Amino acid sequence: MVAEAPPGTRPDYTIDQNWDAYTAADHATWHTLFRRQEEILKGRAAPEFLEALADLPMAADRIPDFRRLTDMLHPATGWSIVAVPGLVPGDIFFEHLANRRFPVTVWIRTPEQMDYLEEPDLFHDTFGHVPLLMNPVFADFIQAYGRAGQEATRLGCLDYLGRLYWYTVEFGLIRRPEGMRIYGAGIVSSRGESVWCLEDPSPNHIGFDLRRVMRTHYRIDDYQETYFVIDEYDQLFAALERDLQPVYEELKRTTVLEPGGVQPGDTVYRRGTGVYHRARRRAAE
Ligand SMILES: [Fe+2]
Repeated sequence: MVAEAPPGTRPDYTIDQNWDAYTAADHATWHTLFRRQEEILKGRAAPEFLEALADLPMAADRIPDFRRLTDMLHPATGWSIVAVPGLVPGDIFFEHLANRRFPVTVWIRTPEQMDYLEEPDLFHDTFGHVPLLMNPVFADFIQAYGRAGQEATRLGCLDYLGRLYWYTVEFGLIRRPEGMRIYGAGIVSSRGESVWCLEDPSPNHIGFDLRRVMRTHYRIDDYQETYFVIDEYDQLFAALERDLQPVYEELKRTTVLEPGGVQPGDTVYRRGTGVYHRARRRAAE
């Protein structure tokens, strides 16, 4: 069943960005967020992310125009940016990704929401997600994810596939010769987590494994207890090249793992102390 698009949107939920409607305050919010993250991410974000960020027509002084982003992105990897009013239904989202269109939310947070948002806004979607779409392998992976999403919807296995997106596209780390680096959009767009995930001793850093990731719960309301680490973006694309149906069938016979644990067979780059989340749980009791 395809949900009907809300009034004012096209059937695929896209709208015009209406760039001229952004206020000086909106641009100022972008400026603050951009400058802050640009500084924090030096030596922390993956070099591919930082290089693409510098190449794209995305500057600190004003909110980017999605048409200009597409002008650069499309010749590079065939991707376009489309404007949407906010979160879109899964089937619509997957359809866009499968056709190399990345949906970006048009609204930006208010100054009161600088450090915490319940839903992704323009800064998260643009600053966090668009740079790696310049990377050919990552760009192919996101399209493959869209196709896999369509299949997983039919198979009723979105929980498994959604964990892959969460632990890679949103919260992934990558090993680089210089050290552990961030590529996940949820981290690069967060002031707190971009430092915490690397420098706090609490979280685990565990080598990426498709089945392990697909059977691990995640936290939506706090920093992650475990970050999964890749060596190359090829690993992500390769994970989706196989027939996933037998993987889902296999996973249905296993239990879903808690986010903070370490399993036999894990490649453990860093065993976290777990101190942060233990304290949070105690405080909540
Ligand atoms: Fe995101």
